[in-house]
Amino acid sequence: MNAPDYVQHDGLKAWVQQMVDLCKPKDIHWCDGSQEEYDRLCQELVDAGTFTKLNEELRPNSFLARTDPSDVARVEGRTFICSRTKGDAGPTNNWMDPDEMKGILNGLFDGCMAGRTMYVIPFSMGPLGSDIAQLGVEITDSAYVAVNMKIMTRMGTGAIDVLGTDGEFVPCMHTVGAPLAEGQEDSVWPCNPDEKYIVHFPDDRAIWSYGSGYGGNALLGKKCLALRIASTMARDDGWLAEHMLIMGVTDPGGEKTFVGAAFPSACGKTNFAMIVPPQAFADEGWKVTTVGDDIAWIKPDKDGKLYAINPEAGYFGVAPGTAPDTNPAAVETIKKNTIFTNVALTDDGDIWWEDIGSDPPAHLIDWRGNDWTPESEDPAAHPNARFTVPADQNPVIDPDWDDPKGVRINAFIFGGRRSGTMPLVVQAFNWTYGTYMAATMGSETTAAAFGQRGVVRRDPFAMLPFAGYHMGDYINHWLSFGRNIPNPPRIFVVNWFRKDAEGKFVWPGFGENMRILEWIVKRSRGGAFALESPLGWMPRYHDITWKGLENFSEADFLKAMSVDRDEWNEELLQHEELFTRLHDRLPGEMRAIRDLIRSALFRSPEHWEMTGDPT
Ligand code: OXD
Ligand code: MN
Repeated sequence: MNAPDYVQHDGLKAWVQQMVDLCKPKDIHWCDGSQEEYDRLCQELVDAGTFTKLNEELRPNSFLARTDPSDVARVEGRTFICSRTKGDAGPTNNWMDPDEMKGILNGLFDGCMAGRTMYVIPFSMGPLGSDIAQLGVEITDSAYVAVNMKIMTRMGTGAIDVLGTDGEFVPCMHTVGAPLAEGQEDSVWPCNPDEKYIVHFPDDRAIWSYGSGYGGNALLGKKCLALRIASTMARDDGWLAEHMLIMGVTDPGGEKTFVGAAFPSACGKTNFAMIVPPQAFADEGWKVTTVGDDIAWIKPDKDGKLYAINPEAGYFGVAPGTAPDTNPAAVETIKKNTIFTNVALTDDGDIWWEDIGSDPPAHLIDWRGNDWTPESEDPAAHPNARFTVPADQNPVIDPDWDDPKGVRINAFIFGGRRSGTMPLVVQAFNWTYGTYMAATMGSETTAAAFGQRGVVRRDPFAMLPFAGYHMGDYINHWLSFGRNIPNPPRIFVVNWFRKDAEGKFVWPGFGENMRILEWIVKRSRGGAFALESPLGWMPRYHDITWKGLENFSEADFLKAMSVDRDEWNEELLQHEELFTRLHDRLPGEMRAIRDLIRSALFRSPEHWEMTGDPT
């Protein structure tokens, strides 16, 4: 194994040699991150049948990949946090003894790259050289992973330069788990249908992934490093690694506020990160820009001000539902240089998916590669079909998105998909209340049937699948983090998804969310009025700007904002279920706040609604 001359890091070279000896690849390629390399690997993927080149006129320099039908999403059931003890991983993570797991992985990885090329991918999560960034090196036998990592991270020689001769990096081992025997023909999407392991060793800060080539299972910088491993680094070193988008909101006076917002998967996070304000706001001079759409790393400076970076360099967004109406900026972003995975292919070589904003064409090739017509029963695109695209193609990218210093955060938003119970917006009374709200947040997993509520999955901090340690310790880390900064960001909870008795959404959502964001931004700066509710501070109807949405009446607003005592008693019982699961490490503050909310509910009318101005 000969590393290129520019690699001067003996520890890295030794580790790669060890992995070569274990995985026994046919050859090795060190990725330099150049455009020439990207183009060549994409061409190789076309030649192998993994990629289809899209129509150069309609979708320049873009490709479609179809995965194996068994390899279409993150596999939470096969994702492990192998901390030293089961207690450290906590009840919300799968755990196995690290030595036992290493034994299994050593067996699986032995010879796993036979007949394949091993790609060595040095990368930085975060701007090169940023104090908040971290380096990783992924070894993989998938060229699909290599080209996606080029988009999603700062990959190649730049990362090697920052690594120098002895810099620290997170070793990330990945294989599709499909060695090729001599003369054996490859499949277009090699993976291992029988065995999958997505394994994190938080004490060694190492990642091993076996058997899947898809998304968060295989692009190890994203969920594995930037959330699961980084959350343990953040706990140890006094910062936050969060499943949050970051947006910049500029008011008509030119003052800018950066906000971090956490939503579980499938709550329209990318849409919110790229929100287009209603015309009335744009006319006044409001502007929203994107720093990140999925992950935020947040560190206090010496004065306790919080600075955040987006560790990623691209978006791995859900394609279905992306349309000019719902997310015009994303539609613009993915016009070129994009890798699409599991979307449908049109007869003229472009892409299509459900809710793309145009009627389905008479004929498509669906995500499985079969003919499809509007009469077909199954969707043309897989519901978890994705686009991978460079962040800097976003027309509303924030000018500071790549600033190594990060952006100053003034507010945090938490939101789930709830057809009832949670009001449209509430500001937590203080950091501890906010931590409670974030720790107990939930989202409905099954589509609510007519007039019915879906099943609520508790998703603390939207981190349930991504916390690298015990969720009780996670809550504790948030509490102590807030205790140690003088003026922590204000915390807000939103719910865009409340439904009325007929099952219709009460709130129009999408761009109209700007109206709520305006109030949040003003509150985070100490302005805007709010009324005390049993849950926290709330805007009254006339604290929100309604220009351009005059048909949304005060009665509609009250429907979106009311707090029902019965629903909340039920909700608090559900919080208790979570607390029971986490009891061995649950901070005492959680039950104390729950009791305060319960007593506030009993002091209030059964169905609390704002009653105008307090005097
Ligand atoms: C994602 C997720 O893909 O949260 O970002 O599942
Ligand atoms: Mn996510």
